[in-house]
Amino acid sequence: MLSFAGLLGYLGVNSRGLAVGLNLVLGGRWSPGVPPYLAIRHILDIATSVESAVAALRSLPFASSRTIVLADATETACVEVIGGEHRVMTAPESVHTNHFLAPDFTSRDELNVFAHNSSLRRFQAAEAGLRDLPADADPDEHFAVLSQTPICVADDGDIRRERTVTAVVLDAKNGALHLRPGDPRLSRTRSFALGSVSPSDPSHRLGLEVKPVEDLPIRAMPDDLARVNLGDPQTFADYDLSSYWRTLRATRPLYRHPAVGDSPGFWVLSRYDDIVALYRDNVTFTSERGNVLITLLGESDSAAGLMVPVTDGQRHEELRNVLLKAFSPRVLSRIGEQVRRNARSRLAVAVDRGACDFALDVASKIPMITICDLLGVPSQDQEYMLTFTKSAISSDDQPEYSAAADDARNEILQYFLGMVEERRVAPQNDVVSVLAGGTVDGEFLSEDEIVLNCYSLILGGDATARLTMIDSVHSFGANPDQWAAFKRGDVSVKQATEEALR
Ligand code: HEM
Repeated sequence: MLSFAGLLGYLGVNSRGLAVGLNLVLGGRWSPGVPPYLAIRHILDIATSVESAVAALRSLPFASSRTIVLADATETACVEVIGGEHRVMTAPESVHTNHFLAPDFTSRDELNVFAHNSSLRRFQAAEAGLRDLPADADPDEHFAVLSQTPICVADDGDIRRERTVTAVVLDAKNGALHLRPGDPRLSRTRSFALGSVSPSDPSHRLGLEVKPVEDLPIRAMPDDLARVNLGDPQTFADYDLSSYWRTLRATRPLYRHPAVGDSPGFWVLSRYDDIVALYRDNVTFTSERGNVLITLLGESDSAAGLMVPVTDGQRHEELRNVLLKAFSPRVLSRIGEQVRRNARSRLAVAVDRGACDFALDVASKIPMITICDLLGVPSQDQEYMLTFTKSAISSDDQPEYSAAADDARNEILQYFLGMVEERRVAPQNDVVSVLAGGTVDGEFLSEDEIVLNCYSLILGGDATARLTMIDSVHSFGANPDQWAAFKRGDVSVKQATEEALR
């Protein structure tokens, strides 16, 4: 909940579960830039959470100092802005007032001492009152706090004096706005709910029902560990490997997988701590012989030392730092909005039709388009890219490298080579331009490094994200109690996402 006592017009709640309020704080100079009121409109249009709102606010050049207060179902934040600098304070609960709270901003506060004192008194009373409220306090309990003096200032008839003109409680989770006009002690609560979000019917939060698909029959695990061939993708389709991994973790944390046919044997780790220790030890172990089983067991990786995931040591850091520049919060907030728009429109089609194959109709359409947008591949070429990446990846599932897969890889690399030449002459706001212009100690990256890392992003970002989405929906279908809890809002979207990624 975001409860607010002040002038209306500077706040709002959106259908994605974000509430925004604005506080006037005086300091610094006014300069050309975005008026804070427009920033609020923008945040309500694009942001889906406190995190995405903070990222968007950081990218806006504000015309004047201001504090923005944000709340979603799980966290809150105060963003203080002065002279192009931002201070962000996030917490499960926040209270703010009309002066700066960030320690290094307080000396730049320009309110006169009287206003400063009264806003400090209001701040302390609000802090104490809201702290005492239970987490599930209803709007009227919030209004009771906002009705106390000195938070509430009575209207004494003199329009030149300060007074409370309204009190507002925003319920971000349910998209509802409650307000008491004038003096909140004297007026009744008026409530407004967003059409697309109905607090009384949580099933509206997601228009789709998830039904479990009939699973293919899963064969019983062989008792003999050695009969499970991890080098064969078919193993993962035939068996539920959970009990295999449990047995390995309990009895054989370091297991020697036997050689099968021409394929050599290899070591298998299964305990989390062991894997993390190995993953972090880049002195004893190397990534330069590949990072997928098919490469590790076959020939060495031709991208070793050039592509970030299969490069060790200092060059890994250097390449990674160039790449990170392409994933700034500004770029990601733009891309995040495209992902939401794309996902919503595909789900809307499915809801209208009454059914869909999630893997095909939704999941396969989102990551590839997103990564193409990030890289700067124009929309008219995305279908072409999708065809080649599918063919390049499908070879990972087959023991032999097919000529078609080799051709597909070469097509993708050639395509990026063309893009690099174009971007060197005319850079755009995309990842290929960042890589094409990126330098380490004044030296440009080589063409091989640039195109191989583009290739890595396009392949690495598609299957991972696509399969995670599909598995999440599959798991919800298989665990209807979890789906019901999610729909009721017992579990936030953020929590569910973290769990899917875990
Ligand atoms: C659910 C989605 C994803 C999962 C589960 C996932 C998983 C992983 C894993 C396990 C690694 C480590 C690989 C290794 O060290 O050999 C990795 C590395 C990497 N991923 Fe992802 N990934 C996902 C999405 C993405 C996306 C969308 C992108 C880019 C658009 C991406 C780009 C990268 C890059 C560049 C690396 C190499 C980082 C380095 O070595 O420093 N990933 N990912």
